[in-house]
Amino acid sequence: MTYMVRVATPADLKHIVAHRAGMFRDMGVPTAPHAISKHFADWLAAAMASGDYRAWLVDSEAGEVVAGAGVIVYPWPPGPNAFDGRRACVFNVYTEPAHRNRGLARRLLDVIHAWCGGEGIKNVMLNASPAALPLYEKIGYKVVDQPMMTLTL
Ligand SMILES: CC(C)(COP(=O)(O)OP(=O)(O)OC[C@H]1O[C@@H](n2cnc3c(N)ncnc32)[C@H](O)[C@@H]1OP(=O)(O)O)[C@@H](O)C(=O)NCCC(=O)NCCS
Repeated sequence: MTYMVRVATPADLKHIVAHRAGMFRDMGVPTAPHAISKHFADWLAAAMASGDYRAWLVDSEAGEVVAGAGVIVYPWPPGPNAFDGRRACVFNVYTEPAHRNRGLARRLLDVIHAWCGGEGIKNVMLNASPAALPLYEKIGYKVVDQPMMTLTL
């Protein structure tokens, strides 16, 4: 089957929202999918309009959206790893079950990395699900020594 990677537009919002819900479901994360999807849809509409969130999708030959991923670029203080003052974070990597293991997530990440490279961004980070960790490691991502910690206020 032939697939095409393309830039997502605001008209694709429902696909990106569905991918985020599908990603948490497949990761086995206990969530309130409807509440998350509603809040995410509102957030995404604004973030895509402003350019804060950029996304790419994969279309099948039949014109179905079967995979996707997105990126946010954050200001990041220059440090030992890069001086460019920004860091990209990849989100919502998702491939529909029927289309997995055909290289679609890898193709999406290649496109995101090429876009980041074109922007002069030197560092990309992401949170890896157990299912995606081997893929990310094959691409070259490394688990960092210092654990990411969060605090819910
Ligand atoms: C993880 C996920 C995105 C992978 O998508 P995919 O399109 O099937 O991945 P690809 O086909 O591009 O895989 C690329 C490579 O990683 C390998 N790979 C993918 N998933 C793997 C797994 N679970 N275990 C081991 N290797 C895996 C593939 O074999 C392939 O290797 P190769 O390039 O050497 O042949 C998909 O399984 C998914 O959507 N999972 C549920 C949501 C999720 O966990 N998303 C990630 C959030 S961080």
